[in-house]
Amino acid sequence: MKVLQIKGGKELSGEIVISGAKNSAVALIPAAILADEPIKILNVPQISDIDALSDSLKYLGASVTRTGETFIIDPKSLINKPIPENISNKLRASYYFMGALLGKYKEVDMFFPGGCAIGSRPINLHLKGFEALGAKIEEKGNRYHIYAKELKGTNIYLDFASVGATINIMLAATRAKGKTIIDNAAKEPEIVNIAIFLNNMGAKIKGAGTSTITIIGVDHLKGCFHEVIPDRIEAGTYVILGALVGNKLKISNLIPEHIEALLSKLKEAGVEMEIGDDHIIISKPNKYKSISIVTQIYPGFPTDLQQPITPLLTQCPSASITENIFENRFMHIKAFNKLGGKIKINGKKAIFKGPCQLKGTKIEATDLRAGAAMVLAGLIAKDITIITNIEHILRGYEGIVEKLINVGAKIEVREI
Ligand code: UD1
Repeated sequence: MKVLQIKGGKELSGEIVISGAKNSAVALIPAAILADEPIKILNVPQISDIDALSDSLKYLGASVTRTGETFIIDPKSLINKPIPENISNKLRASYYFMGALLGKYKEVDMFFPGGCAIGSRPINLHLKGFEALGAKIEEKGNRYHIYAKELKGTNIYLDFASVGATINIMLAATRAKGKTIIDNAAKEPEIVNIAIFLNNMGAKIKGAGTSTITIIGVDHLKGCFHEVIPDRIEAGTYVILGALVGNKLKISNLIPEHIEALLSKLKEAGVEMEIGDDHIIISKPNKYKSISIVTQIYPGFPTDLQQPITPLLTQCPSASITENIFENRFMHIKAFNKLGGKIKINGKKAIFKGPCQLKGTKIEATDLRAGAAMVLAGLIAKDITIITNIEHILRGYEGIVEKLINVGAKIEVREI
């Protein structure tokens, strides 16, 4: 079994360069099959979620050439067939093949999606969107068969501004007849990135980044090249690291506007930062002020940074997190209490008493962002922290161990 071993307490300095966004790349790659010609995507992070998508494409018969962080996908020889469950259940985002295959072939057979266990994570809004476009949905055991004679543009109101549902409906609607309007659409930067990508391919999408997105269906999408935006969650994670143990730690290749909610919370906690156009230089303050975090849809504080900021909250006199997006995203709190935190959960609120000196022990990464939170905790804890189940972390953070060693962290992957 592979574990991460961390010796905490070291100040970190130097530079961490942010990779392409996981949550953007995992949508762009399935979307590429909508084209009838080759697609080139740059700045794709080298993480295991991307490996699983690449395997899915190859299984479907697409040609995939991967050189470092550049992907060339030629979907000309694609065959529409069910992706085997042992590939598709490796990540949640394999559900983007639903919208893409349905849009292109008007039919798709897909197993239920996998991904982090952070709540019940239904996909009813995705399915309602496909139905509104004219598709029929049959549940066969643990898979969906979705088909339509033709997809017809329509007005779709999302009961919740879901990232996944917004993207999936955009993918299908791109090849529907006529105009689709998605109301109460998600506004995350990943939505804007995929809309730009599809428009480069010849789609007609307006309003991405606002709550109303209009899509006029087209018959053909052409080849193009496109760059994945910087990962705002990876950036946020390392900015928090700087606030914990940084000594002029530079986090570069990020878009500060994408993590504004985090930056304003860190300022409120007393952290000083030098914010450039594409980088942030950050140092640990002498002490932290109390803050409370409330997760919200973009541009609010992202649920994906709620776990990574947990170690910092243990260092405040008092703090709280209210988790509004997922109902089961406090799985990491048990490990933080084991490390010496004083955290109580009351419904969707976690209440912190502090500051607490964390002390290394053996803990388990329960999901991707929980794992990242535990790495940061290990870096401020006394003695040695051992993290198990590290596959979760490697799914989403490119070269995390190398990036941390480069700035002086004592961290290694060990086989036990
Ligand atoms: C995406 C991100 C994930 C992030 C989340 C919220 C990817 C691959 N993952 O996940 O990292 O934490 O956005 O920013 O991009 N919901 C429904 N029905 C649906 C869809 C969603 O009830 O059909 C609910 C979910 O259970 C959840 C909330 O809506 O409570 C938000 O989910 P959503 O925005 O869809 O998240 P994901 O796309 O799964």
